[in-house]
Amino acid sequence: MVWQNDVCSVILAAGSGRRICSEKPKIFREVLFKPLVNLVFENCKKAKIKEICFVCAGDGLGVLKGYFKEEASYVIQEEKLGTAHATAQAVPFLKASGKKDVLVLLADVPFIDAQTIEDAYFVHKKRENDVTVIAATLQNPFGYGRIEYANDRIKIVEEKDATDTQRAIKQVNSGALWFNVSALLAILERVDNKNASGEYYITTAVNLLTKTGCYLAEDANIILGANTNEQLLTLNEVAKDRVISYHSCNGVEFLSKDGVMIGADVKIGKGTQIFPGVTIKGSCQIGEDCVVTSGTFIEDSNIGDNCQIKSSYIESSVIACGVSVGPFAHIRAGCEIEDGVKVGNYVEVKNSYIGAKTKIAHHNYVGDCSVGFGVNLGCGVVVANYDGEEKHKSKIEDDVFIGCNSNLIAPVTIRRGAFVAAGSTITENIEENGFAIARARQETKPNYKRKRKGQ
Ligand code: UD1
Ligand code: CA
Repeated sequence: MVWQNDVCSVILAAGSGRRICSEKPKIFREVLFKPLVNLVFENCKKAKIKEICFVCAGDGLGVLKGYFKEEASYVIQEEKLGTAHATAQAVPFLKASGKKDVLVLLADVPFIDAQTIEDAYFVHKKRENDVTVIAATLQNPFGYGRIEYANDRIKIVEEKDATDTQRAIKQVNSGALWFNVSALLAILERVDNKNASGEYYITTAVNLLTKTGCYLAEDANIILGANTNEQLLTLNEVAKDRVISYHSCNGVEFLSKDGVMIGADVKIGKGTQIFPGVTIKGSCQIGEDCVVTSGTFIEDSNIGDNCQIKSSYIESSVIACGVSVGPFAHIRAGCEIEDGVKVGNYVEVKNSYIGAKTKIAHHNYVGDCSVGFGVNLGCGVVVANYDGEEKHKSKIEDDVFIGCNSNLIAPVTIRRGAFVAAGSTITENIEENGFAIARARQETKPNYKRKRKGQ
């Protein structure tokens, strides 16, 4: 039988996050674009713990249910009276689940990974502990519960209650605790709030239990919490460094770590070069041997091999191989761009299909349009898709050439091989291989001399 069948988890997520000075509840603040609480939940899922219960504030319930739906249970903590009080709200869940052990996690401690959870569990079982504290040694332990050892037992002292000697202790409580459920249920009622904060601490429950122990994490970074904005920044830096190291080991070339923010779910092929100041977030796949230069922002998009993405913004789109984008282009949601396309500087493309080898090279807007193979849109060509009330779709077939500064007023279809003269405003369809010119004829007046003042 797998060990996960014997366990469940309670995630404490009801705190107010006063110290973070933000309107947004702390547990929804993000590390590498993911809310803290989602990271904690993902770790639990990766450890294959099936029964998970959130203890949340009334106003956080809707958001949490929106994220995790039926994958978790939810209980509300009406008043924030401390971490033991929060855990006590999950007693009915613990009794109903009938599991032997519970992992209590804090929603503001996002890096306790699946391997640590599992390793700590086996230490917990081997020693038959009532509680096993996942701990680490921090150079700056400020704010964390310090761990003292006496007569084979541990005692956790919170920052506010610690003496100077205790504050000097560097071994700290991560907040992630494996409890024997019966031991926890028996002790919770005995936890009081006689401490500097007047809160019911879960760490007091640890201090009241007999068989206590620690699992010391080797990488101290995994226990970092997010109590202040500065700590949140540190978490982002740690996460960012990890992601960059991971991709570096897999053959991605970073010129610098400066300003590079890559989401944990992003995939990047080997040989791809990433300049400083690049953001790639959400569900993205970047191919091999691409170059992504500074200022680029890519979200929820797939990009093939050998692409050049120069200081551009790309959202919810699919780009094939050998495509050149930018500098300073904007590929908005819903674009599909085929092999060898060039989308040049100051170009915006939205909700459009662009066939292979097409060139949209300078100062263009292409919206709600299907563009074929080998098309050339001259400088400043605009597909005017909006009539002030509705958006309309247009079609430009293969091998069409559209001269500079032309406007295509949607809906309009330009058939294969057609040619549009520069400066035209096209309002009607053009047949295959047709030539359209839609501009006023030039008039030149002879012997015209501009009169100057005083002449
Ligand atoms: C806690 C631990 C401390 C540990 C540190 C690790 C206690 C008493 N202290 O301190 O030993 O080193 O985490 O980061 O447990 N919460 C509720 N309801 C409440 C209070 C808190 O759900 O009434 C939730 C919060 O949303 C938060 C978590 O519990 O996610 C931790 O609470 P917080 O106040 O941040 O505890 P710390 O002071 O950081
Ligand atoms: Ca905390």
